[in-house]
Amino acid sequence: MPAIIWTFASFLIITMKSFAEKEFELCVTHSYGKKDLSNHNLTEVPTGLSLNTQYLDLSHNKISRLESNALVGFPQLCFLKLNNNTIQYISPMAFLHSSRIKVLNISNNLLTTIPDLSLPHLRILDLSGNLYSSYKLGSCFARLTNLKFLMLGGPNIKEIKLGDFACLSNTSLKHLSLHSDLQQYESGALAQIQSLQEITLIMSFCQRFDMFKAIVMDLNQTETTAIRLNPFFPRYCQISSDPFEGFKGAQFLRSIIFVESWFNSSVMVKLLKNVFQSTLEELSFIDIVYYEDTPDGVQFYPTHNQTVHLRSLTFNGVQHLQYSYPKINISVTYLSQLAYLKFSGTGMNISPCNLISDIPSLMMLDLSNNLLSDDGFWWPACSYTKVFPALRQLWLSHNRFVYLSFISRKTHQMMVLESLDLSFNSIQLDGECSWPTHLMELSLSNNNLGNGVFSYLSPHFRRINLSKTGITAITQKDLSSFPNLTHLILSSNSIQVLPMNLHIPTLLSLHVDQNAITSISQEPILGLPRLQHLKAGKNPFSCSCESYWFVTSLSKSLLPDWPVDYTCSTPPSFAGASLEEYKPTKPSCLPWLQASIAVPVVLILVAAFSITFYACDGIWYTKMLWVWIRVKRRGHKGAGRLQNASFRYHAFISYSQHDTMWVESQLVPRLENVGLSLCVHERDFVPGRWIVDNIISSIEDSYKTLFVLSQNFVQSEWCTYELFFAQHRAISIQDDSLVFILLEPIPANCLPKKFLKLRALLCKQTYLEWPKEERKQQVFWASLTAMLHGADKHLAIKKVATDIVDTLPLIADQ
Ligand SMILES: *[C@@H]1O[C@H](CO)[C@@H](O)[C@H](O)[C@H]1NC(C)=O
Ligand SMILES: *[C@@H]1O[C@H](CO)[C@@H](O)[C@H](O)[C@H]1NC(C)=O
Ligand SMILES: *[C@@H]1O[C@H](CO)[C@@H](O)[C@H](O)[C@H]1NC(C)=O
Ligand SMILES: *[C@@H]1O[C@H](CO)[C@@H](O)[C@H](O)[C@H]1NC(C)=O
Ligand SMILES: *[C@@H]1O[C@H](CO)[C@@H](O)[C@H](O)[C@H]1NC(C)=O
Ligand SMILES: *[C@@H]1O[C@H](CO)[C@@H](O)[C@H](O)[C@H]1NC(C)=O
Ligand SMILES: *[C@@H]1O[C@H](CO)[C@@H](O)[C@H](O)[C@H]1NC(C)=O
Ligand SMILES: *[C@@H]1O[C@H](CO)[C@@H](O)[C@H](O)[C@H]1NC(C)=O
Ligand SMILES: *[C@@H]1O[C@H](CO)[C@@H](O)[C@H](O)[C@H]1NC(C)=O
Ligand SMILES: *[C@@H]1O[C@H](CO)[C@@H](O)[C@H](O)[C@H]1NC(C)=O
Repeated sequence: MPAIIWTFASFLIITMKSFAEKEFELCVTHSYGKKDLSNHNLTEVPTGLSLNTQYLDLSHNKISRLESNALVGFPQLCFLKLNNNTIQYISPMAFLHSSRIKVLNISNNLLTTIPDLSLPHLRILDLSGNLYSSYKLGSCFARLTNLKFLMLGGPNIKEIKLGDFACLSNTSLKHLSLHSDLQQYESGALAQIQSLQEITLIMSFCQRFDMFKAIVMDLNQTETTAIRLNPFFPRYCQISSDPFEGFKGAQFLRSIIFVESWFNSSVMVKLLKNVFQSTLEELSFIDIVYYEDTPDGVQFYPTHNQTVHLRSLTFNGVQHLQYSYPKINISVTYLSQLAYLKFSGTGMNISPCNLISDIPSLMMLDLSNNLLSDDGFWWPACSYTKVFPALRQLWLSHNRFVYLSFISRKTHQMMVLESLDLSFNSIQLDGECSWPTHLMELSLSNNNLGNGVFSYLSPHFRRINLSKTGITAITQKDLSSFPNLTHLILSSNSIQVLPMNLHIPTLLSLHVDQNAITSISQEPILGLPRLQHLKAGKNPFSCSCESYWFVTSLSKSLLPDWPVDYTCSTPPSFAGASLEEYKPTKPSCLPWLQASIAVPVVLILVAAFSITFYACDGIWYTKMLWVWIRVKRRGHKGAGRLQNASFRYHAFISYSQHDTMWVESQLVPRLENVGLSLCVHERDFVPGRWIVDNIISSIEDSYKTLFVLSQNFVQSEWCTYELFFAQHRAISIQDDSLVFILLEPIPANCLPKKFLKLRALLCKQTYLEWPKEERKQQVFWASLTAMLHGADKHLAIKKVATDIVDTLPLIADQ
């Protein structure tokens, strides 16, 4: 049963406009394929546009001729609008190079003949509003085998001749629209278009109802099912005969649509009489004027038993010019088959409840776009004995409904209601709602509701439309109360992010387009295992790694609006670009991949550095740097003190532990025996002080510094000295205060390269070699002692000087 409902609804919705819109969607596959140059004062088709142009709008310009080369630069062109120009001439070769055109609109131009067009793919052609004076189509139309929809017409056409449409006889044309003020119709002309399913006649038939009857007869031959009449009756029209006689014999006719017509109630009664006796199933009135010229309005009661076929009745836009409610009294038996009723755009504020609610088979009721309020629809004066026994879908959008809790209680009366549309009202969340279990679909879109709306909905809902309801954030908790949810529409809100823990196992379709979403990550989508449609376009996408998964991994077949509606907003360098063109590179966006590349690189660098460091004595240099820093600090602190230093020791002796034997058994006893005071590295160092500080203060306190040089010393001890000799100015050590004793021969070029200072000193400085022979040793001791005794003279002079300085202030005072 629901399948029948939908074919009905969709049949009604197909109008000429949506026809072209559908083709537009088929034609334009890239946002850059669309070019709108309408209203640009152009006098010819511009050149130099993209070769990829699929849609070109040149309407409302001043183009007057279409020469043979005009469209050479558009091999991909599929949709071309040239309406509202001043085109008088179209070269037969003009479309040779753009033969892919499917939709061509040349309406409202100045063509004086119907042009020859060889466009094998053409599906929609609009040539209406031109100056040709005959509908006679050239033989080339026989080759437009894909043509489905043809619009013709103009002010200069007065008649239709028998052969005019002959060449369409073997085509697959489905819909023909003729717009002209006809005086003459040669019977049989339209009967030649054998495939014709639908016809639109934009003309008035007042006083020419016989012509209308002839057309209807011809359409019986082509088995045409739908007629659209605009306006049919102008405002003033003397109607004596029955204009609708033809309907009775038109046994294939299913649908009649009256657009912008005038209906007097007397004429309406005539129409209904014919309709109820025919096989017509759909009757529509769009933007009509209704005028009651009979005292009782429309009264309609059965006189005898008959089968009524009417299944769909539409009033969409009714102007009622009198200050009274229209009187309509139609027996429900005439509406016994009625499944669809639309009563929209009528200004109705009180529903004719006892009539509408009694229709036994009514499944779909559309009362949108009226002035109904809660009380106007559920009018307290109505009895509601049998309320909408078969109603499944109810549209109440664009009205004045307010109280959601009231509405939720009233829906319990409609025993099989499944779908309710309350969009575009003034709905308030006034209190707890109680929805019937059979109601499964609700639209509350375009009401100002906010984030709390979810707690007013029913757990039985499967389809929820909350587009433009002021939602700023959604949580998994909100959505977990709908175990059977299949369609969730959240378009046009201000949602910034989909919850990471989103989990709706039943969801098939999710719309979050036109929100504030900058990226869609994998986690929420993984929580929707059955998802088939994800509409997420027109969001301010960030063309950065955040969108990496969405762009590269998400199946684009899920996205009905990809790629046209997806553009980047940030970063500024990408703003306005198509998200499809953003091609992030894999390593730059995947942290683990980045890490797995970066870690080995860092390791290699570290290893390379370490090897270099080791090879170039990096450790030693680092140590030296530390010493240097300490020395520098100490040097600044002690600078003043050092100037006036007097010596405590004749010599400070520095040596390697390996040479302790010699130092303790030979050097120290020898020198101390001759009365020299010594500071010995290990013996006299202040415990707990840093070794460098100890060394420095020992050097400062000593007249000479004695280095016992051996291979061991060079290797283990010297490094400590090297640096502060480099800095010797800071601690005022003169080179000549240094004495080197070579315990074993150490050639200068065997010294490590890094000991620059030692090398320099050994080259420049005299040093004492420890001789192996006893005799030579005596000389050694003698020169060493002499060298150290020099200190005494030095110390004496210094003492005198200090004494003078000390007494001077006293003299000055006296
Ligand atoms: C087209 O011409 C009119 C009048 O000359 C001018 O007002 C209008 O700005 C022009 N439009 C464009 C897009 O150049
Ligand atoms: C296009 O041309 C037709 C016929 O001249 C005119 O009625 C219509 O208003 C024009 N459309 C616009 C948008 O100007
Ligand atoms: C062609 O353009 C006119 C506007 O002048 C529009 O009314 C008509 O619907 C268009 N035809 C088609 C088939 O889209
Ligand atoms: C259409 O087909 C019929 C039979 O195949 C043929 O006799 C007739 O000439 C064709 N008409 C046109 C306009 O091609
Ligand atoms: C409707 O009725 C009025 C008044 O009787 C009449 O003047 C007018 O021509 C009628 N119009 C139509 C379309 O029936
Ligand atoms: C309509 O067409 C059918 C089948 O072609 C035919 O039986 C019927 O008589 C026609 N009706 C009229 C009024 O000619
Ligand atoms: C219509 O038919 C029903 C039975 O189908 C019958 O009971 C009823 O009397 C008939 N009404 C008229 C007016 O013939
Ligand atoms: C509708 O018509 C029936 C039969 O003619 C009549 O009994 C009834 O009173 C009428 N109702 C109204 C509201 O005019
Ligand atoms: C969900 O659907 C199942 C199967 O159609 C049904 O049994 C169950 O009652 C539904 N749950 C709700 C809350 O409507
Ligand atoms: C949701 O409601 C809006 C407003 O009534 C409508 O335009 C839109 O098509 C609906 N979306 C779906 C998917 O039904």
